[in-house]
Amino acid sequence: MQALILAGGKGTRLRPLTVYTPKPIVPICNRPFLLYQIDTLRRAGITDITLSLSYQPNKIEHLLGDGSDHGVKLKYTVEPQPMGTAGAYKFAEDAIRETTVVFNGDILTDLDLKAVIREHNGRKAAATVVLQPVENPRAYGLVETETDGRIHRFLEKPKEDEITCNNINAGTYILEPGVLDFIPPGENYSFEYGLFPDLLKRKESFYAHVPPRTYWIDIGTPERYLQAHQDLLANRVGRIHIKERRGSFDSATVAEIDELSIIGDDCQIKPGAQIINSVLGQGCFVEERAHVANSVIWPHTRIGTAAQVSNAIVGRGCHVGRSAVIGPGSVLGDKTSVTDYTITGGAKL
Ligand code: GDD
Ligand code: MG
Repeated sequence: MQALILAGGKGTRLRPLTVYTPKPIVPICNRPFLLYQIDTLRRAGITDITLSLSYQPNKIEHLLGDGSDHGVKLKYTVEPQPMGTAGAYKFAEDAIRETTVVFNGDILTDLDLKAVIREHNGRKAAATVVLQPVENPRAYGLVETETDGRIHRFLEKPKEDEITCNNINAGTYILEPGVLDFIPPGENYSFEYGLFPDLLKRKESFYAHVPPRTYWIDIGTPERYLQAHQDLLANRVGRIHIKERRGSFDSATVAEIDELSIIGDDCQIKPGAQIINSVLGQGCFVEERAHVANSVIWPHTRIGTAAQVSNAIVGRGCHVGRSAVIGPGSVLGDKTSVTDYTITGGAKL
């Protein structure tokens, strides 16, 4: 078995966070996101992993190298321009010889991957798609199934009146190399609009795997990125437990840091500051009486005296001025400087 992680999208819906950091390596609780997917693969015994890149590939390669620090062997393919999801799999054809696990590179889940592989093999399927129930399938790929688990219909980004069930494509596939022959070479081609509907037309053995209660989130928007943090901090994600919530940092004894929060190395937290249910990246500086709640702060950011940050995401190397109020829903890109007393996002005027 081997794996391919689709990590070439531009991450437009996660802007401004993805202006300098490609989505696959945005920090989630101070770890590059892809490491969670690599953990899932390694737990299932899969160590031969190809990362399919296109947007800012060097940053990802530089960070993860050959994978030896993480107990896996990483290879990279870099498309000159994005080839689409199935086009990216076809582009990696030379690296693919066996049954392959394909991940969308933005899904945080506690899926039991071994169970998916067992079911795929037991059914001798050409392709298996993992499903997830969601409240509103509009933003995803809707998947209708037969009672025996065969896929009946695949409808990407359905319109309101096309929604017939709440099961969606969870962005995890098991593919036999034979399906590569159905993907046109050298073209932009998608699993969702191209290969999957085509497999149905060809009457290939194309199955859904419905896992029992599984945590699942696509981290690709700021709301869901923040939600993923809240879920991890509250230990709502099985199989992923935050081991170390406290790096080595300086904190005044009169500062309040709750048990849920994660504080990166080399932070400084001054007297009277409060950090509640939040994540601080490495080297952050929180001044006196500043208040940070339900927020994610990327490394090397300074939160000024008596500033308030709540339900917000603050990028790397930012400066939030004295008494500023960064309110719910605010997302500050890297190196933003917010003047003293500024008010952003959701604050009551
Ligand atoms: N290499 C490469 N090349 N990767 C790509 C390309 C490309 O041209 N286009 C997208 N990707 C990667 C993205 O980086 C992302 O990890 C993954 O493919 C899926 O792309 P998204 O842009 O995040 O798609 P989506 O979230 O709108 O929809 C997809 O995911 C849903 C689950 O979250 C679809 O697969 C839906 O059917 C699915 O329900
Ligand atoms: Mg996505």
